[in-house]
Amino acid sequence: MIKKIKENVYYVGVIHWDRRLFDELIPLPHGTSYNAYLIKGNEKTLLMDTVDPFKEKELIENLKKLKVKRIDYIVSNHAEQDHSGAIPEILKLYPEAKVVTNEKCKEFLKELLLISEEKFITVKEGDTLDLGEATLEFIMTPWVHWPETMSGYLREHRILFTCDFFGSHLATSNIFTEGSFEVYESAKRYYAEIMMPFRNSIKKNIEKIERFKIDIIAPSHGPLYKRPEFIINAYKEWISDRVKNEVIIPYVSMHHSTEKMVYYFMDKLIDKGIEVKPFNLSVTDLGELAISLVDAATIVIATPTVLTGAHPAAVYVAYIVGALRPKTRFVSVIGSYGWGSTMLEQIKMFLKNLKVEFIEPVVIKGYPKEQDFKRLDELAEEIYIRHKKDLILI
Ligand code: FEO
Repeated sequence: MIKKIKENVYYVGVIHWDRRLFDELIPLPHGTSYNAYLIKGNEKTLLMDTVDPFKEKELIENLKKLKVKRIDYIVSNHAEQDHSGAIPEILKLYPEAKVVTNEKCKEFLKELLLISEEKFITVKEGDTLDLGEATLEFIMTPWVHWPETMSGYLREHRILFTCDFFGSHLATSNIFTEGSFEVYESAKRYYAEIMMPFRNSIKKNIEKIERFKIDIIAPSHGPLYKRPEFIINAYKEWISDRVKNEVIIPYVSMHHSTEKMVYYFMDKLIDKGIEVKPFNLSVTDLGELAISLVDAATIVIATPTVLTGAHPAAVYVAYIVGALRPKTRFVSVIGSYGWGSTMLEQIKMFLKNLKVEFIEPVVIKGYPKEQDFKRLDELAEEIYIRHKKDLILI
């Protein structure tokens, strides 16, 4: 797809409507896009990032349709292959082009794509590229989500190209947004799945980019933001320390004992004015669970015992939560066993990097009985007390 963004600035990226999985891990219910941009100065022409190799033919078609005879610079803001993977093909078609990136990204590109040293021009914070009546300034924005990531600021048009930062996996022909619920949800899902472990770096990077006057934020996935404050303010909320009066309950149950506990426990929480979000792990979209992890105060993992440990679906979730490092403050476990269980040790091991307080779990033998329901009452009360103390919400 080709769209004019500003005078001499074109969208030349590709929408991947039917991609449903990223990294063989992340569900993409709304597809995605790989946004690349062409900037024509009076003297030089620059390609801002490329696309996933799946779609390199379409990128090349777009360049042909625009009758691009020469590319002087290919800026690579991030070495991950969904943006850099078409660089080797572009270099074959435009052999005069140089790959412009920072030192760390250059090393990654050499390793990942076997691009040779002489093809690179390296830049650092504040360096500029003069294209003739168009000036691109480089801003280092590391750890969103790799260590080498940078952004480019086109001074004359006040466009900030941020690559993954502020992106969303959302395939849409309407490439500009002023902000909508659909875009917000997609961007939040993207943040949850990819950016959440890097809250501190994101904070520093937002402070850095806010020194610039920005009319458009142009990420490399999803729509471009015509009101940059829409996405910047959303990110500020997501990375803040604020949490919601909410308990997420990822659960799995084989013979209804754990399920019975979950439904009883949820009712108790609801009675106390606490919002609950159950996720049945046998059917749930992990992306939906990740979105909830962005701001919930508490997670309670509910699992039966399988081969003396937690159910593998619960182990998987514990691993994902540990890796995504949400700002959750409290964690507990509920579940059932037949003759013995090491589920607690297992789940705690995966969550050891979280800065959370573990609240006394409720792990019972068999189907829940009167004394077990009492323990669930107590757990709900403990959560209520902590939410009330910490959240100033109830
Ligand atoms: Fe869209 Fe980190 O690549």
